[in-house]
Amino acid sequence: MGSELIQIMLANQPGPPAGARSFSGAAGEAASFASGGLLNERIMTNEAYGAQATPGLTRAHRPSLPVATAGALKTFYVETFGCQMNVHDSEKVQGLLLARGMTPVEDLTQADLVLYNTCSIREKAAQKVFSRLGAIRKTTTGTVKAIGVLGCVAQQEGERFFERAPQVSLVCGSASYSLLPQLLDQLEAGKPRVTGLALDTEECFETEMTRRDNPFRAYLTIIEGCDQRCSFCVVPMTRGPQRSRPSGNILAEARRVADQGYTEIQLLGQIVNAWHDPSPAGLSFAELLVRVAEVPGIRRVRFTTSHPRYFTSDIVQAIDANPNLCDQVHLPLQSGSTPVLARMLRGYTREEYLEKIHDLRKARRAISLSTDIIVGFCGETRKDFEQTLSLIEEVEYDQVFSFKYSPRPNTRAEGRGDDIEEEEKGRRLTELQEIQRQIQVRRNQALLGRSFEVLVEAYQARLGQAVGRSTTNRVINFPGGPQDVGRYLTVKVTSAGPNSLVAVRV
Ligand code: 5AD
Repeated sequence: MGSELIQIMLANQPGPPAGARSFSGAAGEAASFASGGLLNERIMTNEAYGAQATPGLTRAHRPSLPVATAGALKTFYVETFGCQMNVHDSEKVQGLLLARGMTPVEDLTQADLVLYNTCSIREKAAQKVFSRLGAIRKTTTGTVKAIGVLGCVAQQEGERFFERAPQVSLVCGSASYSLLPQLLDQLEAGKPRVTGLALDTEECFETEMTRRDNPFRAYLTIIEGCDQRCSFCVVPMTRGPQRSRPSGNILAEARRVADQGYTEIQLLGQIVNAWHDPSPAGLSFAELLVRVAEVPGIRRVRFTTSHPRYFTSDIVQAIDANPNLCDQVHLPLQSGSTPVLARMLRGYTREEYLEKIHDLRKARRAISLSTDIIVGFCGETRKDFEQTLSLIEEVEYDQVFSFKYSPRPNTRAEGRGDDIEEEEKGRRLTELQEIQRQIQVRRNQALLGRSFEVLVEAYQARLGQAVGRSTTNRVINFPGGPQDVGRYLTVKVTSAGPNSLVAVRV
């Protein structure tokens, strides 16, 4: 799920091209969008701060080396890696920077402050920030005054970051983002290195202002951190203990984004359905979903990522009863083999997982399903892997995100070694993806002739096509123009591939 959004972001990196046009949200608020660009931004505050041009995440910029003391930090540039939580954390961090009077810039070399919000979920993701920092080092006519690293690699490496990358002067994990204004003050006052690395927080990161990058979907964090301790996963070590936001704060933010013109909300959490209301209102997660879906102006509510362990039938009943709750659930499986699930410390068996799926399939609405799978976890036999394949064939997911196991520091599985050869992991991944491809072709073909309401998210000028998304999270392309972006339209499917559908307007 997370990877999907990031792919879209990377594909749309440059800022608004010439000919950026005006888009009106359902509440009539004007914002800027670019033809073909999905993620041109709106800058949002509690009082609808206004719109500005986007500093895109242009990779082509060859950055220059920072100088030693920061001095006044007036401009900033943020690049984000990883999941939707990270994407949204960056939106909130940018809100803090705006509130400090700083200005976003599109060109990295124009920035006083460069921040990388990092991801550590797999080794490859963690390496990305070091290659960026390496690139910064190579070109040395410096304008950048300070470089900071945020997120999971920052938390994981801590003070060691300064040794690996001496050009870095700020290292801050997600549990300490509310300290960022003070840390920046210290940098400006001449302190060469500052850190925010405490993990023992009980608080959520609340901001007055959020710089929302996605003009159609407002992300709202409802729960931070993770207490699950799945044996493969680094997140509990990098994001700290689980803490839920009070329902009142969440609902107030939902009303704010609705006032700002958003019609779609995505509730976020590492384990979103482990949310429980710390306030006296005492709402359940399913009740919260319904309350958010009832906010005037909101037409679509999604939530990610759910853990099967907390996926209770009242969530399914809520989706069934409320058309504003999208008929889409992402329920990571990780493995179809009970012994592997036990070693992963997932807290459910194959059969228990399948019961949850059965519950979802019993709903009146045809709820679309997606999942995450890890192949080649330590000790995974061919037979274990075949259990995963058979589960995928049984469930027939609409989408599967699959990954080769990557051992992570300080996780319980780290000590168990990484005994499946890289090539074998690759073979298993390819085999799984091919089976899933065929399932998706079949499932999508079955939609021929069906009509869907889509929210149009982009227009591809080269193809003369609008790109919409259904409530079931399917991407649907159809002939359209830039004026369609931001609208809800009904389209009828005329052809289907494994990853997207082609349609005509009805
Ligand atoms: N190796 C490979 N994939 C991982 N994931 C989490 N940790 C690892 C790891 N160490 C995958 C899981 C999770 C998704 C976000 O990333 O499938 O659901």
